[in-house]
Amino acid sequence: MEENQEETKDFNWGKVEWGKRIAGGAYGIVFLCQYGGKKVAIKVICAGEEDIDGVETAELSFLREVSTCSLLDHPNIAKFITAKEDVNPPLKDLKNSGFCGVIVSEYLEGGTLASYVRHHKKLALKEKIKLALEVARGLYYLHSKNIAHRDVKLDNLLLDGQGRVKIIDFGVSRIETEDMSVKVGTKGYIAPEVLVSNSYNHRCDVFSFGICLWELYYLKRFGSSLASSTPQIGKDCPKKLADLMRRCWTDPSTRPEMAEVVKTLEDVLKKAERSPFGCFSFLKR
Ligand SMILES: Nc1ncnc2c1ncn2[C@@H]1O[C@H](COP(=O)(O)OP(=O)(O)O)[C@@H](O)[C@H]1O
Ligand SMILES: [Mg+2]
Repeated sequence: MEENQEETKDFNWGKVEWGKRIAGGAYGIVFLCQYGGKKVAIKVICAGEEDIDGVETAELSFLREVSTCSLLDHPNIAKFITAKEDVNPPLKDLKNSGFCGVIVSEYLEGGTLASYVRHHKKLALKEKIKLALEVARGLYYLHSKNIAHRDVKLDNLLLDGQGRVKIIDFGVSRIETEDMSVKVGTKGYIAPEVLVSNSYNHRCDVFSFGICLWELYYLKRFGSSLASSTPQIGKDCPKKLADLMRRCWTDPSTRPEMAEVVKTLEDVLKKAERSPFGCFSFLKR
């Protein structure tokens, strides 16, 4: 945290070398930039002044992301460096900006887990569990700070140069001071209670994590357009892992906390590493 604060205080915006766009959504565009000889990712959250709703959405998303990220310091969460409103990013199409905020964070060069599962046809069980464990540890840390991410999906999980997984995108995150009611998330990952209930809690992330775990195990996307459906688990899947996925998809009151998810995955990993074949027949017992 101290290092973060140092960087924030001393950050010289004039020294940012803006580079190429690496991603872009409705209000957020991410650039790969250089700062002080290091690569950084800069997310620009903007809306033109004619787009009144957009200005409100962009501002809220910026404030949410900054207020959350600046509290966090964990190896499985992208490192926040600094943020500022009213910086002039190189966006030709943005003439009269109603709102413009930028967020600087460490650049993660390994791409998203979404593209990782697209490009890997085969992977040892223990490698899959290691990836899932890193996500689980990051979420456990978030929940310990009373923060719900609310958009856990492979597109928001990035790899750094060493293959470590980091959670990004806190634009719809919430500090849990009271029960949440706003319907946010992504189809195929969103917990059913987020859509039907007037109050849900951080366990919506556990549901979405279960979908990510399934996608990492099968190395494919679930991609359901139905909000509350869950994928099929075949007989090939180790029982402990299958049970864990199913529990993540139960009613929020019986869903495990991330602490338990971490513990279960650590057990699965230990057994997978002890197995002479690196496989999982023992887990079916
Ligand atoms: N720190 C980063 N390093 C590298 N790429 C990043 C970083 N942050 C975001 N990206 C890329 O930009 C995309 C969009 O960023 P994200 O914060 O998820 O914004 P959005 O709110 O538009 O989803 C990510 O899926 C990833 O491909
Ligand atoms: Mg995102």
